[in-house]
Amino acid sequence: MNFNKIKDAEARHYMPVFVRDNIALDRGEGNFLFDTAGNKYLDFVAGIATNILGYNHPQLTEAVCAQVKKLMHVSNHYYTEVQSRYIKRLCEASGFSRVFLCNSGAEANECAIKLARKIFKNRGVYKKILSSEGAFHGRTLATLTVTDNANQHEQYAPLPVGFDTFKYNDFDDFRTKLTDDIGAVMIETIQGERGVRPFDNDFLVNAYVLCKSKGVLFIVDEVQTGMGRTGKLFSFEHFGIQPDIITAGKGIAGGIPMGACLATEEAGTAFAIGDHGSTFGGNALACAAADKVLEILTDGGLLKSSAAVGEYLGNALAHFSKYDFITDIRGMGLMRGFQLSEKIPAQTFETKLRERGFLVNVAGNNTVRLVPPLTITASEIDGFIAALDEICATTCVM
Ligand SMILES: Cc1ncc(COP(=O)(O)O)c(C=O)c1O
Repeated sequence: MNFNKIKDAEARHYMPVFVRDNIALDRGEGNFLFDTAGNKYLDFVAGIATNILGYNHPQLTEAVCAQVKKLMHVSNHYYTEVQSRYIKRLCEASGFSRVFLCNSGAEANECAIKLARKIFKNRGVYKKILSSEGAFHGRTLATLTVTDNANQHEQYAPLPVGFDTFKYNDFDDFRTKLTDDIGAVMIETIQGERGVRPFDNDFLVNAYVLCKSKGVLFIVDEVQTGMGRTGKLFSFEHFGIQPDIITAGKGIAGGIPMGACLATEEAGTAFAIGDHGSTFGGNALACAAADKVLEILTDGGLLKSSAAVGEYLGNALAHFSKYDFITDIRGMGLMRGFQLSEKIPAQTFETKLRERGFLVNVAGNNTVRLVPPLTITASEIDGFIAALDEICATTCVM
C-alpha cells in the first residue's frame, strides 16, 4: 500500500485524535527504522521511550516467537510459569515485593490510585491524592484528573473527586498543600511530557521525608523514567528514597503492551481477592517479553552500558548551550531534551532532523525530546550530534 492510501484510510476511519508525521513506518532493525518509501532513520523516539531494545533484537524476538508458539494468553484464573518467573525477577530487581500487571501506563497508575484508596479505606479514613502541576499520568478519567491539562479537564468533566495539586518544584507550596486530608502523593521524577522537566534533588528528597513523617504514601510514576531510561532501573534510585508504590509501562516489555504497579509488602497487600483485575494483564506473551527485557537489562549488562551511553549523550548535548536559541538542556541517562527559544518552534528541528535521517519528537515547553533505544551506541550518537550541530549552525533567529 503506498503512503497516500495509508494516510487516506487513517483520515477516513481512525478517530481524529492524533497529529501524525508524514511518513509511514514499515520495519525496524537495530536502532533504525525504515519508512514505506525506503528511507532509513536513526530512532530517538523509540515509540516514546518504549522500544528499549530497538527493533528485531535477536533475543527478544526469539523469546516472543517461542512464547507465541507455546501459549499467548490464558485467563488470570490460572497460574502460568512464565508470569511466575517474571514477577519474581521484577521484584528481585526492583526491591518491591508485590506487583500487579496490566497493559499500559495509565492502567498502572489507575491501579496505584485504587490501591492508595484501598489503603485509606483499610485505615478507616477518607483521603485525597496530591499531584504536581505539569504532571502527565495518563488518559483514563482518574489519571487524567492527576494530569495537568485544563482543556481536557473541561472536555471530560465531571472528573472524579479526591485530588489536589501543588506547584511544580515548589517545596513551600508542597508543604502547604500537604494538609491532613492528603493520603498520597503521586509524582514523576522527570516530567517527560512536559518537556523532560526534572524535579530538583532537594525537592524530591524533602517531599519524600515530609510524606514519610506524616504517614503519606509516596507514589512515583516511572512509566517514562523507568526500565533503565535514566541510567538506573527506576529513577527514584538516584534520590535515595523508597517509594511505597511505583508504576511502570512503556519499555517494560520492549514494545509488547504492558504496565505494572509495584508496591512494598505493606502497601501491596491492601487489595483483597476481587478488588482489582485485568483480562490481558500479565498474559504469557507480555510476560515472556518483559522477562527477556529485564534479563537483558540486568544479567545482560544493558542497564550499566546504557547508563554510560546516556552520560555520553548528556555531555555531547551540553556543548549546544553555546547557541542562544537553545534555552535549556535537561534530563538524565537516555532521557534528554533541549528547549528552544519561543522564536523557533521545536517542530522545525524535528523536521530538519528527519530530513537528515533522525527521528525525534517534540514534548511540552517547545522541547525536542530524545529517548532512543537503550541499545543506541556512542558512534550512532556522534552522527546525530553532527547533524544537530549542522542544523544549529544554519539556524538564525529572526
Ligand atoms: C509519566 C507517564 N505516565 C503515564 C503515561 C501513560 O501511559 P500509557 O500511554 O501507556 O497509558 C505516560 C505516557 O506517556 C507517561 O509518560
